[in-house]
Amino acid sequence: MPNLVAVAKTSDLPVGSCLSVEAEGMGLALCNVNGTVSALDNTCPHAGGPLGEGTIEGECVVCPWHGWRYHVATGERPENPDFKVECFPVVIEGDVIKVTLP
Ligand code: FES
Repeated sequence: MPNLVAVAKTSDLPVGSCLSVEAEGMGLALCNVNGTVSALDNTCPHAGGPLGEGTIEGECVVCPWHGWRYHVATGERPENPDFKVECFPVVIEGDVIKVTLP
């Protein structure tokens, strides 16, 4: 059954930043693009880099290890959509970021 879990405060994630968090044993990358928060699987499919420790470039998060990019809303790699990370629904309640986990 899906599970809505508090993962961070909005103050932890300024516009244009990303953050690694753990929730229910899962690693997540939270990304703030122009005030919209997204949550993606934190593990880069290339070699396991932590996406939440990367950077935001346009509407993508850039992996800190070798620079692969993933669109924050779809999880797809623009250069090759065969590589994709899972995305999870986000809600903001007050100053709390919550993610729906499977
Ligand atoms: S591990 Fe992410 S680009 Fe290589």
